[in-house]
Amino acid sequence: MVDTGGNAAAAQTGAPVVAVDLPSGVNSDTGQVLGRAVRCTHTVTFQGALGSKDVARLVAGGRVLDVHCGGGRWLAAKAQRFPEPELVGIEAEPDSISRARALVEDAGLGGRIRIQPVARTEVTRPGRFDLIYYQYALHFLPDPAASLRASWEALEPGGTMLVLDWLLPTEADEMRTIHGELVAGVHVDEVFMGAGLRDVAAYRGWFAEAGTPEPEVIELPSGATLFVLDRP
Ligand SMILES: C[S@@+](CC[C@H](N)C(=O)[O-])C[C@H]1O[C@@H](n2cnc3c(N)ncnc32)[C@H](O)[C@@H]1O
Repeated sequence: MVDTGGNAAAAQTGAPVVAVDLPSGVNSDTGQVLGRAVRCTHTVTFQGALGSKDVARLVAGGRVLDVHCGGGRWLAAKAQRFPEPELVGIEAEPDSISRARALVEDAGLGGRIRIQPVARTEVTRPGRFDLIYYQYALHFLPDPAASLRASWEALEPGGTMLVLDWLLPTEADEMRTIHGELVAGVHVDEVFMGAGLRDVAAYRGWFAEAGTPEPEVIELPSGATLFVLDRP
């Protein structure tokens, strides 16, 4: 995300301003501007991912794990849509843990969703699961292959692992699209924060290093990429 804390100064440069999910200072429910807000030229968002098979599983119940669940919004959305499954989110950032727990409490979902703190480098899993989900999280991790291995081992037979992420383009031409430009901006921002996006070859390498079968790779209309892995 382009930090437009000094939004007026950014606007004067004529540079595009990109908001991730929602411009800061805008109410997500009503669109109302709350005091000072960021005026952006582009808004990018990350879509949640589920396949029809996973929806069927969630309708039936089962156990779901969101690896590095952030503020818990995916978990809450799934709990509200599917009344049966038991959901667990693991998360390392104290601020995200607090936000996720508050969201769960406020939504009255405390009996359905458990938010469990983990250390950044911790790769153990709190039990066995039918669906394990990563959303815009895998490439941040210190050891993505170790995390994938732990998740694969924690999957029940017939279970599915979904990894949704934004990737760096493989070909230089892809950088010359609006999506390529946005991704380049996200990448630079992440590099400043100590992470950075990766290309599809890197993801395939992490799965191979984790000892899993090759995932199915699905390019989504949003520009995100979904890796799908079913446990026999
Ligand atoms: C962009 S957030 C995504 C959170 C959530 N999955 C979502 O979609 O809202 C990245 C997640 O990776 C986790 N993470 C783990 N190790 C990290 C690291 N070294 N640097 C940054 N984030 C890290 C953060 O705690 C956070 O939950």
